[in-house]
Amino acid sequence: MSDEPIKEPTTGDEQPSRRGFVTTVLMLASLVASYGLGLVYFLRFLVPPIRWRRRELFVTTVDRVPSDRALVWVGPDGQEALIYNLNGEIVAFSNVCPHLGCHVHYRPSEQRFVCPCHQGVFDLEGNPIAGPPAEENTPLKRYNIVVRGNAVYLEILEEA
Ligand code: FES
Repeated sequence: MSDEPIKEPTTGDEQPSRRGFVTTVLMLASLVASYGLGLVYFLRFLVPPIRWRRRELFVTTVDRVPSDRALVWVGPDGQEALIYNLNGEIVAFSNVCPHLGCHVHYRPSEQRFVCPCHQGVFDLEGNPIAGPPAEENTPLKRYNIVVRGNAVYLEILEEA
């Protein structure tokens, strides 16, 4: 007689139940994947991604950028920028006050930008130094300037 343990006789039900389990798992995985993908597309439909387009607008030539005052440039879409030579670097800032949207002006005697509405004051780098913009620490919006040869361009980003 051998010492092997006696095995229970199989009924043949094990194979189909294992197959059924694998099938169920695969179906659930497919469902999750397809609903997940559908959810992603639905969310993209609801909140489409913003696409930005970079645009360069010709402003002036390098030799015409003043260093003793700010040039007020008006773009084709009505946007305005204050452009000047700051210690050899051409810079551009929006003239829209970040407090409530009044137009700031360059005051040459103080070498500052002043907002007439609530006496907001900005230094030549657009940093707020007095008034509500200083309390809120909101600088003037700075534009990127691109210089190619003698031409000065203002770079704007807009929705495509
Ligand atoms: S709008 Fe410029 S300080 Fe208020």
